[in-house]
Amino acid sequence: MDCLHIHGGLPLNGSVEVGGAKNAALPIMAASILASQPVRLIGVPELVDVRTLSLLLGHLGVEVKREGAGDLRIQTVDPRPTRADYDLVRRMRASFCVLGPLVARRGRAAVALPGGCNLGARPVDLHLAGLAALGADIYIQRGYVVARARRLAGATIDLAGPRGPSVTGTANILSAAVLARGRTVIWNAAREPEIVDLGRFLNKLGARIEGLGSDTIEVLGVTELGGAVHRIIPDRIEAATLLMAGAITGGAVRVNEVEPAHMSAVLSVLSATGADVHCGSGEVSVRSAGRLRPVDLAALPYPGVPTDLQAQFMALAAVADGASTIRDLVFPERFLHVDELNRLGARVVRTSGGARVDGVAQLSGAPVTASDLRASAALVLAALAAEGHSVVRRVHHLDRGYERLEAKLARLGARIARRQLTAVGSHQEPATA
Ligand code: EPU
Repeated sequence: MDCLHIHGGLPLNGSVEVGGAKNAALPIMAASILASQPVRLIGVPELVDVRTLSLLLGHLGVEVKREGAGDLRIQTVDPRPTRADYDLVRRMRASFCVLGPLVARRGRAAVALPGGCNLGARPVDLHLAGLAALGADIYIQRGYVVARARRLAGATIDLAGPRGPSVTGTANILSAAVLARGRTVIWNAAREPEIVDLGRFLNKLGARIEGLGSDTIEVLGVTELGGAVHRIIPDRIEAATLLMAGAITGGAVRVNEVEPAHMSAVLSVLSATGADVHCGSGEVSVRSAGRLRPVDLAALPYPGVPTDLQAQFMALAAVADGASTIRDLVFPERFLHVDELNRLGARVVRTSGGARVDGVAQLSGAPVTASDLRASAALVLAALAAEGHSVVRRVHHLDRGYERLEAKLARLGARIARRQLTAVGSHQEPATA
């Protein structure tokens, strides 16, 4: 099992390229099931989650070939399989995005229920209600969602959930509606840039979708979709994480090949911490010196601050000059990073609605354990700021969503090295990376 050794306290400086967005690439790969011609995706990051979905698509008769860095060629070679096994779906919830495309294109799907995860309860009721409204016959059998339809029929679907719209729920319904007979209107659709990217990809295949980026999406169903070449949008979460690495270490970091418009709320909060934020065409830079200021933030659906950056902002708040409050209105239980940040010397207490963070002047290196993808990133950030040596364990979580994060941080001057976790208590100092 890999871990990251980090010697903190050094300011990070320089510029770094950001990869394609994981949360756009995954539903787009799943939606490639709908295509009757080959699909070429450009800018797909090399991530464990991408490999997991490629494996699942392979089991579903969809060949996924990597052709050079970032390029995927996807083509259906056998349209008969319709079963997404628990062994693959439980590894990654985004696997559930094959449900809509399978039932729309192949008339049947049996997809394992993904279950809960470290972010708290994660129901799929909105996905199922939406597909049922499109005319799919849906039932649960032995832990699998079975959905059947000869041809789906357009409908008006309200995707409002108790915590806002569902992102992958919108992806599933949208991907199914493109082949449904007639017109579908999705109210309270997710507005995330990753959903807009999915919609644009589907339109390139020949779908007729309007209203992308708003909360009302309209789809006029077509009978067949072709192929397409599509470039995945930049990963706004990776970009922000790298910028925060600059801010938390008192350095100056520029991220290239990004879309600043996708990051407005995030950049406002970064500015509120006192960091100097500058946006250019396809790039954003952050410079920071001295103590950061505390912030009060609530993670919300887009265009709000994303829940996928809540943990990383907590790392910043941990070293701010004063008390911050952090709430997560999307995943109210997504706070497993709190205890681990406290191991690094942070002073975070859970409150009923979130957490209160009393900033400290200096974190101190410690062994910590990552619980999920974004929590891992928060621990890496905190360890970069902490004085001395930290070991972040269970970084397989990090590898699900960040492409060689340690290499990018090392290029910015971090002393960080990946090692296999050897004996219990082993604490070798990393060489300068
Ligand atoms: N919800 C329901 N019913 C549903 C679906 C969701 O009540 O049928 C609730 C959830 O429990 C949650 C809220 O709605 O409280 C939002 O969940 P959503 O469905 O939007 O999450 P998701 O689609 O499963 C995607 C991302 C997550 C990201 C969330 C929120 C992908 C592959 N995953 O998950 O990304 O946190 O949206 O923005 O797009 C990550 O990358 O680390 C990650 C977890």
